[in-house]
Amino acid sequence: MALPERFLDELIARTDIVDLVSESVRLTKKGNSYWGCCPFHSEKTPSFHVVPDRQIYKCFGCGKGGGAINFVMEMENLPFRDAVAVLAKRAGMAVPEFGGGSSAGMRERRDKLLEINKQAARAFHRWLYAPEGAGGLAYLQRRGLSKATLTNFGLGFAPDSWDALIRELSQQGYDKRDLLDAGLAVSNKDGRIYDRFRNRVMFPIIDVRGNVIGFGGRVMDDSTPKYLNSPDTPVYNKSRNVFALNIAKKSKESRVILTEGYMDTISLHQAGFDSAVASLGTSLTEEHAQLLSRYFKEAVISYDGDKAGVAAAQRAIPLLEKAGLKVKVLRVTGAKDPDEFIKAYGRDAFARLLDKSENQVDYRLAQIQAKYDLEDDGQRVAFLQEAAQMISTLHSAVEREIYGGHAAQTAGVTPETMAQEVNRALKSRLRKEKKQQERRDLAPASQLQPKNRGLRYENIRSARAEEGILRLVLLDPSLLAKMEGLTGSEFSSPLLGKVFNLLRRRAEEGLSTHLAALAEELTGEEMDHMAQVAAQPESMARAEQSIRDYISVIRGEGLLRSGGRADDLLLAAQKKYLEKKAYMEEKP
Ligand code: GTP
Ligand code: MN
Repeated sequence: MALPERFLDELIARTDIVDLVSESVRLTKKGNSYWGCCPFHSEKTPSFHVVPDRQIYKCFGCGKGGGAINFVMEMENLPFRDAVAVLAKRAGMAVPEFGGGSSAGMRERRDKLLEINKQAARAFHRWLYAPEGAGGLAYLQRRGLSKATLTNFGLGFAPDSWDALIRELSQQGYDKRDLLDAGLAVSNKDGRIYDRFRNRVMFPIIDVRGNVIGFGGRVMDDSTPKYLNSPDTPVYNKSRNVFALNIAKKSKESRVILTEGYMDTISLHQAGFDSAVASLGTSLTEEHAQLLSRYFKEAVISYDGDKAGVAAAQRAIPLLEKAGLKVKVLRVTGAKDPDEFIKAYGRDAFARLLDKSENQVDYRLAQIQAKYDLEDDGQRVAFLQEAAQMISTLHSAVEREIYGGHAAQTAGVTPETMAQEVNRALKSRLRKEKKQQERRDLAPASQLQPKNRGLRYENIRSARAEEGILRLVLLDPSLLAKMEGLTGSEFSSPLLGKVFNLLRRRAEEGLSTHLAALAEELTGEEMDHMAQVAAQPESMARAEQSIRDYISVIRGEGLLRSGGRADDLLLAAQKKYLEKKAYMEEKP
């Protein structure tokens, strides 16, 4: 266990989810619960639900959910440990300093990894100006970076040696294992351990709190891989962190410039565009978008002009919009990427590109247009239909009219004709959506599946019963005594089984059985789903009968699963009887 359980329990007891959420979300009371607009995605009608008697929140729009600790983790983008510290401070509790215990271990390990990374960054930076770094310095200068930029970004150089960093850091008391943990060393098949980054210019990756969490290293010629990045470690996760956000977050700009590459971002900063960031050699994730939305209102996607860049921009648009950012797309023309553009045409030219960056609807229209030859009548019709499809997905009628107008002009038809086409597309889409909804209502099974694919239920019928059991236990842990010896291993869903076991163990130890208390054991996705489960109605009035029904479903489905065929009902019934007997005999 990470933190002392009693401490966590008290923290949870002292923290009221409604008070906590109210600090950042306007909540309205309806019946026994509260509703508000979700802080994790942008919406106008409230789908964010807070249930005081279960101490959980759940958004029916974006799916986020959990207890108090998860709320702080999500809102502040903090790891578990730090979220607990925030809540403890709020509740006027001192966070215990732990002697021993694995949590202290975890925290010490993180601190140690951060320290190693910091020392490594220092060494790399120093080597840039040492004789062995001459090649690296020359390379970065050749790429136009000034001394001030090298300092600002803490750029460095990893010498052409198998163990320069290992030797350097061993003088500071770190061993090879530490470097392996930090992703700074690798081991080969024979167990030989050597520096991961060799003969590369180094880009430290620094989080918003100023910690060096990882590195990217670039070769200085055409060899491959061009960039080598730190692997994910306990302190570094590439889908959660954004390069240069530590600097960009201080910008006065309300728009963040999103690039694909380290060099693009650094060039932009050097040219005075201090709100540039880059995702770390991966495509943009929802977490990146959420993180950016904490600091900026608008995002200008400034990816490479090639096919891959265009595709990446298309993928990024909905993620950024979902995070509540206004999205524009800048088109780099006459150069491969923003870095080369600035070198070729200068900063003012880039500023003009920035000002002319299109909002994403025009951008998507241009993408559609590029697929058709508008001189050809047939293709022109196809263009208009596809454009109408896209425009019909816009939420406001005003937007549909404006962009419909743009498309009409492009294709040389009247705005009225286009409006008709958009309306037709809109109606047909709404009809289709309604049908889909009806189908979903008729076939609830698909609706009952967890949003996250990794958590999908193998057996919906059993999982429904398992969910029911968990809801009852969450509401009244004393019901655990009525479970006929049920264990989590009998559950069809590994997640639900795990939660059942956790709750049972906690109840046995007299610990809190609030969902919030499981924040450390469950992943974000798992917690989202559990909050969804917990938020559904469950009648306590006939709890004991429900438990019997649920258990019989779980065990019945379990039997079928364990090879019993449906037509072996007699055998199944017999086995069930024997099992039941065994449980009864187990009881003292
Ligand atoms: P320069 O070529 O130095 O101008 O860098 P760039 O940033 O323009 O590179 P590019 O457009 O090729 O790639 C964009 C980003 O993708 C880089 O900044 C890296 O984060 C990542 N990337 C590029 N090549 C590799 C690679 O070989 N391996 C990995 N892991 N990431 C890469
Ligand atoms: Mn480049």
